[in-house]
Amino acid sequence: MNKAKSVWVFVMALITLSSCTTQNNEQQVSSPDGKITLQFNLDAKGQPAYNVTFDGKLVIKPSTLGFSFENQPAIAENWSIKTIEQLSINENWEMPWGEKRQVLNHYNSLKIGLEETNKPYRKLNLIFKVYNDGLGFRYEFPEQEALDTMYIMEENTEFNLTADYKTFWIPGDWDIYEHLYRTTPLSKINAVQYRSHNDLAQTHIPNNAVNTPVTLVGANGLHLSFHEANLTNYADMTLLVDTVNLTLKSCLVGSENHNYKVVCKTPFVTPWRTIQISENAGGLIESDLIVNLNEPNKIGDVSWFKPMKYVGIWWDMHLGTKTWDYGATQDMNSASGKKPHGRHGSTTAYAKKLIDFAAAHNIGGLLVEGWNTGWENWIGFEDREGVFDFVTPYPDYDLKEVVRYGKEKGVELIMHHETSAATQTYTNQLDTAFRLMESLGIHSVKTGYVGKILPKGEYHHGQYMVNHYHQVLETGAKYKVAINAHEPIKATGKRRTYPNAIAREGLRGQEFNAWASDGGNPPEHLPIVAFTRMLAGPIDFTPGIFNLKLDPYKKDNQVNTTLCHQLALYVVINSPIQMAADLIEYYQGHPAFKFIEDVAVNWEQTRVLNGEVGDFVCIARQERNSENWFVGGITDENERSLELKFDFLPEGKTYTATLYKDAEDAHWDTNPQAYKIETLTIDSKSSLPITLAPGGGFAISLIAL
Ligand code: NOJ
Ligand code: CA
Repeated sequence: MNKAKSVWVFVMALITLSSCTTQNNEQQVSSPDGKITLQFNLDAKGQPAYNVTFDGKLVIKPSTLGFSFENQPAIAENWSIKTIEQLSINENWEMPWGEKRQVLNHYNSLKIGLEETNKPYRKLNLIFKVYNDGLGFRYEFPEQEALDTMYIMEENTEFNLTADYKTFWIPGDWDIYEHLYRTTPLSKINAVQYRSHNDLAQTHIPNNAVNTPVTLVGANGLHLSFHEANLTNYADMTLLVDTVNLTLKSCLVGSENHNYKVVCKTPFVTPWRTIQISENAGGLIESDLIVNLNEPNKIGDVSWFKPMKYVGIWWDMHLGTKTWDYGATQDMNSASGKKPHGRHGSTTAYAKKLIDFAAAHNIGGLLVEGWNTGWENWIGFEDREGVFDFVTPYPDYDLKEVVRYGKEKGVELIMHHETSAATQTYTNQLDTAFRLMESLGIHSVKTGYVGKILPKGEYHHGQYMVNHYHQVLETGAKYKVAINAHEPIKATGKRRTYPNAIAREGLRGQEFNAWASDGGNPPEHLPIVAFTRMLAGPIDFTPGIFNLKLDPYKKDNQVNTTLCHQLALYVVINSPIQMAADLIEYYQGHPAFKFIEDVAVNWEQTRVLNGEVGDFVCIARQERNSENWFVGGITDENERSLELKFDFLPEGKTYTATLYKDAEDAHWDTNPQAYKIETLTIDSKSSLPITLAPGGGFAISLIAL
């Protein structure tokens, strides 16, 4: 445990007010550095409201708070303040793995106890926490006679903006986050035009709303990002966009099976509504607001999970050279069964070949997809319940032997559970499936939820699924299993409480480059993702494609970056698991593969060296338990020349730097594979001019001498 932990808490005031509250209707709380101030008040009609200033200037105009219900009157007007509590916390906590070891949790909080002025005198608390990097607030419903089970039709939380910010957004889809980011003024957001999307199995975009994190950049240089923390037993919050009044308003994900969006019972707390605030783009990435607003680790020691790089039987299927299914449609073991087609990817022999490769190249994990029966009927079928089980391998895959061989070579298997969104089948089998993993010493699983959710009428991001993903996390903790969810619910910092939540998808990953009919992810994709999706938490993006044109497999598709951009992603993208995603034949004997071999996956500290949302970003990270550093930088479709400073290194220490950079004539489209490797000696006083090609990047390993 963290011995350096220092807790400094003092209660500044706990005031129990008499019934007359007018003079106390305005309460405020500021960040420890005094720059951010949140002011709470009851408006003229007695409705709770707040506003936010940064450096004395209004950032969020007076914005109201409340709820509407199916089974009782709305929470809106006629409230009075009963109690006010203020608190300051200044402590450190330690990430068991992640982008840094020590996290500073330093904030001032304000808790307002409210009561209705009319019958039935319901009670509601509002809790605000203000940090130097932003703020969060949540609603707390104490146990009370007047409020028991609540059927929430809508949460009415407003974020009333003062200007028409440049906004980086994806549509408020109830089913999937795998959309391209759009960059428009807030007043020009039109999410519903992305309703039909060729490459997605399902989308549901009922409103002109955006999903979070949504990042806004002001003409004055202020950077804001709206999101939520600790999404538990509730529905995902999308944000309705009022393009005229420049207001964002909560719009919860619902269900076709009932009118309400959330059902809960007092005592109850909502997720935190969060606003990250920074004067520069890099501050958003360095912010710990989202994890800080979650509760401390509840599952104890997770040293059984080791951050790792991994290879997989995976890209083969996305390129179409191999299949997930075995190809037999009847009893595959019987003489009458159809003969398999022979292109099945996950065979014992192929898995062993990849284990040999991983063991020789400092890669700790192997993902095997398509190992279990069911893939013949997994997609496009209405009735998908009962199709998959998570214990029966295909006849050409000897699970136990692969595990044994991996152990011998020091490579751990990563389990794969594609549920095809048939949630009840998965829930029923969770214990059995995880028990098998525990018995084999497999400590991580990639889950998947492709397709329309079963039971019918539910959406990926509604309360039903939030609870499903949570149950998988909790069951995982019981069996020492870490979860990497694809088609997940968005990350909201729960990895602090459940550090077996290691990574997730929840964005357009690398796979889109292999099969999207819209040209794949554009070069600006990751320079936007770093300042949007990545603020939520670790990403399983699966970087490292070297055969960027995807020839000869996918003639019409390509990866729209240079090779050095791919290398840089191992540092830029935050994740304790990083795939070397390409087919191993493209790595064998390739000089640039040395960077993937060397790069760390677990970090002592992280520094954002520079960057602008949607344009470029350079990040330096120090390997945990080591003096080595790694630096990665990526740019959008524009070439960029930067002067890199190394003043993040300790003074007086010298490093051997290996620089992987775009060749002069490199270009994401015309010449993506052109790169150069240079060896340099670097210290904290060094500076290095570096040019990133259009769609390019660079990567540096700094090995302490
Ligand atoms: C979608 C996931 O994102 C992808 O990585 C996986 O290979 C397929 N589903 C099959 O589970
Ligand atoms: Ca996916």
